[in-house]
Amino acid sequence: MGEWGWAWAWFFTAAPLVALAVWHCTDAFYWDAFLLKPSHRGRRLPPGHMGIPLLGETPRLMWYFKVARRPDSFIEAKRRAYGGREGASIVGLTSLSNVEGKQHTRLRGCIIAAVNQPGPFWAFAQVVQPRVEAVMRSWADKGIIVAATEIRKVMFENICKTFISLDPSPLTDKMEKFFKGLIDGLMAFPLNFPGTACHHGLMCRRKLNALFREELERRMKKKNKEATAPKEEEDGDDLMSRLMETEDEQGNKLSDDEVVDIIGSLVIGAYDSTATATLWAAYHLAKSPDILARLRDETAALTRAKNNAAGACSYITYDDISKLKYTAKVAEEAIRVANFAPMIHRVALKDVEYEGYTIPKGWRVVVRLRSVHTDPMYFKDPLTFDPDRWDEPAKPGTYRAFGGGYRTCAGSMLARLQITIMLYHLSLGYEWKLLNPDARIVYFPICRPEDNAAMAFARLGTGSR
Ligand code: HEM
Repeated sequence: MGEWGWAWAWFFTAAPLVALAVWHCTDAFYWDAFLLKPSHRGRRLPPGHMGIPLLGETPRLMWYFKVARRPDSFIEAKRRAYGGREGASIVGLTSLSNVEGKQHTRLRGCIIAAVNQPGPFWAFAQVVQPRVEAVMRSWADKGIIVAATEIRKVMFENICKTFISLDPSPLTDKMEKFFKGLIDGLMAFPLNFPGTACHHGLMCRRKLNALFREELERRMKKKNKEATAPKEEEDGDDLMSRLMETEDEQGNKLSDDEVVDIIGSLVIGAYDSTATATLWAAYHLAKSPDILARLRDETAALTRAKNNAAGACSYITYDDISKLKYTAKVAEEAIRVANFAPMIHRVALKDVEYEGYTIPKGWRVVVRLRSVHTDPMYFKDPLTFDPDRWDEPAKPGTYRAFGGGYRTCAGSMLARLQITIMLYHLSLGYEWKLLNPDARIVYFPICRPEDNAAMAFARLGTGSR
């Protein structure tokens, strides 16, 4: 056989065999490991292809998310092939180093005590509103804004102010860049060497921890000094001071490392998520004049009632929030359609039986939350922005924007409060118009309009160009 003959022979026989072996070797590896255990005899692994070595199903997922921009089709294809309505898919044997068990319960208790209570909500509403009002005035002065960027910025400033008492400054700008690097790193492929997004994310985390530690040490020194000298200016009732004082059930305070770590993770959890939901609220309100009109009626009525009672005041208190029933529905619908956390991860702590299959101990399960929120069986016309659907609560287990179980979001009430405050001030004083209402939607790393919702923004009654 000549040189070309060998090449063709290889191409038509060996190459497909190699490709087939690569395609199935991950499946074969996990099936073998599973069946080698005597206790697994007669049991079955969940069906589905586990992807190619190292990369798993990532290339396919990225194709659906980034190229085809049909994220729901990825899961839909799996549902059709393997059945199941819950949108759970098995992606392989890896495990994140999360806090677990008693340690999780202890830290979670401290976070809830510092974040999810009426006291912090009152303080939050008071502190952020002057900033929100000033920022919206500046948007109107600009006339044209890129909503995704501006909303993200104001949310970050709110969080810096309420979590660590920092006003906007070059330092907060630097911190925002670090957080962006960190979040990009979290979304990136986990390859940690210089030049990768993952490595950059880790560096950003280190720098942020150093900044928070510096602030913590400054406060500790000040506290020690105050024990012997007259009081200096107060640091204010922010999240860091609350965390420094919080005690667990045994009466132990959090360690410095824990405070620093918690602050970092709470900022990550708090600002991008809420900013994304607010962005989608603004986007859909721009496209739904009737909904915006009803929102304006409600917020204007509340302001009138407040002004009659106590002179002109455009700020709302935490107690007022419960009166804004329609606004709450708009906020909830924005959270649903934003799908900020499209999936959550769990690790099987023991063998779990599910619909006749065994999910082995140590396997990582991805629960795709977006799939329940876009399922017409649970939400009529799921892609339509319809606050009235919240006249009735969602069917149990079908609304999972904040996750579920003992890891459910610890800041859901704060998120709702922030979005409500933004909606209140937007609807009361401003009008806005999308510059590209038909802009395509990007689904990775988070769902947003391709132009980041560029819009004309003006004071109400002056007309958005
Ligand atoms: C619209 C805004 C938000 C959304 C959609 C959201 C969504 C989520 C989701 C899906 C989880 C995972 C739950 C699970 O694994 O079952 C989570 C966890 C968490 N979120 Fe949020 N979140 C939002 C805002 C916030 C805010 C404002 C804070 C903090 C102040 C916060 C703090 C946390 C914390 C601490 C956890 C971890 C809970 C644990 O592991 O016990 N989140 N969030």
